[in-house]
Amino acid sequence: MKALVLSGGKGTRLRPLTFTCAKQLIPVANKPILGYVLDQVASTGIKKVGIITAHETGQFVEDYVRDGIVWGFNVNYIPQEPLGLAHAVKTAKNFLGQDSFVMCLGDNVTGQGLEAFVKKFKTENLDALIILKEVDNPSAFGIAQLDAKGNIVRLVEKPKTPMGNLAIIGTYLFSNKIHQAIERIKPSWRGELEITDAIQEMINMGFSVKAEILNSWWLDTGKKDDILSANAKILDEYIERDVKGTVTNSTVDGRVKVAADSQIVNSTIRGPCVIGKNVLVENSFIGPYTSIGDGSKICSSNLEYCVVQDNVTIKDVERLEDSLIGKNTKVTRNQRNRTLKLHVGDFSELEV
Ligand code: TTP
Repeated sequence: MKALVLSGGKGTRLRPLTFTCAKQLIPVANKPILGYVLDQVASTGIKKVGIITAHETGQFVEDYVRDGIVWGFNVNYIPQEPLGLAHAVKTAKNFLGQDSFVMCLGDNVTGQGLEAFVKKFKTENLDALIILKEVDNPSAFGIAQLDAKGNIVRLVEKPKTPMGNLAIIGTYLFSNKIHQAIERIKPSWRGELEITDAIQEMINMGFSVKAEILNSWWLDTGKKDDILSANAKILDEYIERDVKGTVTNSTVDGRVKVAADSQIVNSTIRGPCVIGKNVLVENSFIGPYTSIGDGSKICSSNLEYCVVQDNVTIKDVERLEDSLIGKNTKVTRNQRNRTLKLHVGDFSELEV
């Protein structure tokens, strides 16, 4: 069995960050989302991994994953025009050959590993196993309808009148029959080859297409608020107290991780939160669910529920909440008057 990890796409909803970074590399709890996905693939024992990349951001993905040896992988990079998830499978056809494969989205994280799904797929000799999750707003998702035996009988993309609440979450296992189905589908109204259409085609062709319901959390980090939620969830689930840096005249409460060469001076840190390498926090409050990237400086400021990437300076900012700050950014207070002075990239969003 192989793995296909989709790390291409346009990432329009995360601009401007995606002008200079692949969205799958945006950190949550100071680690790229793609890293969590690759960890889960590695746990299955799969070694041959294809990574779909986009032309604009592929190099960033390659610089992070390299030869995949960290995960024990043999990696193939597969550049793709972002023309849909089924188009990504079609583009990877040579890499996939006749093998079955697990397909994951590089920007989706779940609290559950892939091993049980791989086992079910193999034991039951399936052609497709689609992972689903109950959602509160089915009209926003691809929704699957199941029969009593757990076979998928129908899929509807963003149904106006939902026939259930089981959404397709972006983890799929396929036999090589998927390629026959993709050959038979046409691009959708948005010009993409849709994986839901390919799965529906597999059902129409009589292949065994089953579902499994995820029994943990699932986060799709396509937008800013999703990144903040994923950061909070991962800090909650995985961060243990580990304060290695220098703490001077400060209070560090709860599950807080501070790297060895960082300094906390005259400040309060309240976990769960993570503070990267070579960070200075001075005369500041860092509230729960905050991640501070390497090389950043937080001075005379109060932050809560934020993702701050590497080499950011935040100075004299009274209160910063629910914010996602890109690398090498400066946020400072204009002391002289109440005028806002901005130097902001295209597609930025500011609430002042
Ligand atoms: P999406 O988030 O659905 O698409 P996108 O990345 O183009 O984002 P946006 O809507 O903000 O413009 O993609 C889900 C995942 O699949 C994501 O990790 C990117 C990846 N992907 C590909 O690798 N190839 C593709 O053709 C598409 C559409 C997505």
